[in-house]
Amino acid sequence: MKPLEIKKGIYWVGVIDWNVRTFHGHTYSTPRGTTYNAYLIVDEKIALVDTVYGPFAGEMIERIREIVEPGKIDYIIVNHVETDHSGALPAITKLCPGAKLFGTEKCKEGLYRNYYENWDFCVVKTGDKLKLGKRTLGFLEAAMIHWPDSMFTYCAEEKLLLSNDAFGQHLASSKLFDDEVDECVLMDEAEKYYTNILWPFSMIILRKIEEIQKMNIAIDIIAPSHGILWRKDPAKIINAYVSWAKNETTKPKAVIIYETMWQSTAKMAYEIAAGLISSGVETAVFDIALSDRTEVIKQMFNAKGFIFGSSTHDNDMLPVMAGFLKFLKGLKPKNRRAAVFGSYGWAGGAVKNIEELLKESGIEVSVPSISVKYRPDKNELTRCFDFGKEFAKKISS
Ligand code: FEO
Repeated sequence: MKPLEIKKGIYWVGVIDWNVRTFHGHTYSTPRGTTYNAYLIVDEKIALVDTVYGPFAGEMIERIREIVEPGKIDYIIVNHVETDHSGALPAITKLCPGAKLFGTEKCKEGLYRNYYENWDFCVVKTGDKLKLGKRTLGFLEAAMIHWPDSMFTYCAEEKLLLSNDAFGQHLASSKLFDDEVDECVLMDEAEKYYTNILWPFSMIILRKIEEIQKMNIAIDIIAPSHGILWRKDPAKIINAYVSWAKNETTKPKAVIIYETMWQSTAKMAYEIAAGLISSGVETAVFDIALSDRTEVIKQMFNAKGFIFGSSTHDNDMLPVMAGFLKFLKGLKPKNRRAAVFGSYGWAGGAVKNIEELLKESGIEVSVPSISVKYRPDKNELTRCFDFGKEFAKKISS
């Protein structure tokens, strides 16, 4: 694929990672692949904004070479230290040893701890500017969106916001603009990205968007470092972020997440779901041991209610559920209600320990939990059905 000129003299020189299937270790599933977007701005001075994941350095360098010799790069803007964007720095800086790097103080520290190189690095803060010639780059610190070092770069002359991870999506595509891809797929991936990566930082994101709106800057294109660029209506994704950050999309919906050994807990889950559905509540059910966690989290994001169930094993919940609840705790969900159920053979433990983890996570358990010995009988299944109806009332009010 050739470099793509996104504005006169500004080129996408990133790479498409068609076959990556998990991200951030294995915490995020990427069934549609991803891209690592890097941008080359050719002016009197030449600036590279971000790089790509290290194994793809050669591909990015070849793409740059189609425009200029890499040795002519004067500046490298490092919006974010995470290695999916900085991984090609060792390779590219070898080709342009005179280039100066720009980023936040935390970025400088993070780059050193990742690469142990003494690059010529200029620390920048919000409001600092770098003149390239006809164009000037402005910097805007964006700490915790989503790492302490994160930063946005803005080019006023081109009305171009280079937002790094913010507004990104894990979506590999040969078409790079929002008006060239399926809008439903794009928004689905953008929401999945927000919920699994940015959800805990919602208040920070709201404040940052307010700060940008107060700056009254014009934006023609938002160019993130993953996935598709927003040019059709950049306000659409900004407004979506505001809505997500304010929890405006939550609705009376319940997501049941369970893990089962011999199907007793599964039977309970289905009866609880039947109770919810009979009350008119939108309901989704996942056996967490068989499900894509990234997708489950996305399904939970617009749900007011979460219901967790597990069989007891060694006096505790089953292990996939334990890992899932730990992951959920890290996402710091706010204003959600929960309920708990489970089964056991001789001594319980799963229900109590799920309740404790939810308490630690700040999620309120809204109805008394149900625990069943061995297999649920007819009366217990009726209790499960009623439990679903009772929970439906809690999330419908
Ligand atoms: Fe896409 Fe935080 O790196």
